[in-house]
Amino acid sequence: MLDELQALEQEALAAVAAAADGPALDAVQSEYVGKKGRLSGVLRTVGSLPPEQRGPVGKAANLARRAVEAAIEARRGDLIAAADANLGETEWVDATLPPPAARAAAGRLGGTVHPITALVRDMEEIFLSMGFDTLDGPWVEDDRHNFGALNIPADHPARDMQDTYWLSDGNLLRTHTSPVQVRAMEASAPPIRAVCLGRVFRHEELDATHENTFHQAEGFFVDRGVSVGHMLYVLRTLLREILDDDVQVRLRPSYFPFVEPGFEMDVTFRGKWMELLGCGMVHPYVLEQGGIDPSVYSGFAFGLGIDRLVMLKHGVEDVRHFMGGDLRFLRQFAGGLEG
Ligand code: DAH
Repeated sequence: MLDELQALEQEALAAVAAAADGPALDAVQSEYVGKKGRLSGVLRTVGSLPPEQRGPVGKAANLARRAVEAAIEARRGDLIAAADANLGETEWVDATLPPPAARAAAGRLGGTVHPITALVRDMEEIFLSMGFDTLDGPWVEDDRHNFGALNIPADHPARDMQDTYWLSDGNLLRTHTSPVQVRAMEASAPPIRAVCLGRVFRHEELDATHENTFHQAEGFFVDRGVSVGHMLYVLRTLLREILDDDVQVRLRPSYFPFVEPGFEMDVTFRGKWMELLGCGMVHPYVLEQGGIDPSVYSGFAFGLGIDRLVMLKHGVEDVRHFMGGDLRFLRQFAGGLEG
């Protein structure tokens, strides 16, 4: 019986030494010295031994149990100390990461940059690199800034081309970003080099190529001696950056009330000429309306549709996707807009 006890104690001590972590040690503890453990079992049988054996066996079993319990506590202390020493390796947290739940959800629910916003940001950066300021203007405009000062008087047929949302107070939702030209000239003196990329509104019948809310980029440069050559350089640089390194451009004469001469610019894209934007030399009347002397200064201006450019670039076939809010459409742009 005493030999058996000693073998059991050795076995228990070996198991304690082999326990690699807290849970393994707990298992060893309950196997040998727990209530139903094997050493406790020996103690419970002491009462049924012949009287002369009860003393020595009981004493040996108690000693064995205490030795095993002490070994377990010592081992537990060692394991905790080792884990603490390793804390820097095993328990470090990257405090810049979102919490795990947010990370798990991000694949399904995370936001993405809207393709229009992405192009607006790219274009603003390109213009900044050419020394242009970016300006904002109000969405609710007055007649003078949207039309009159741009050489579009009340009876002018150009008003019909821009179906307007009129407000009950006589103001309107801007139909183009050109009014920002006038506001910029009123607010500062030449040289003025600025762009406005923003939302415009037209009372349109909606279809695949017509939206009532879309986006334009308006650029203008007013200074002494500004010419069509400057305009060509700026537009070619812009289009090469956003479309393709070897984009070709050409000007065709066209008419817009606020420029003289006025042009449409075409670009080559995927082997074809595409009509892309309106531009020209700011009309002397418009300079005057902005408080700038047309006998001293000249300027160029251009306006282009951002939605159309994104459609071209990414093969989007229906302009209504942009304002439609369908996440399946928007998530296609999750990886950014490169390429
Ligand atoms: N404002 C015009 C439109 O909405 C676009 C435009 C054409 C702007 C010629 C210009 C320009 O600055 O010179 O259709």
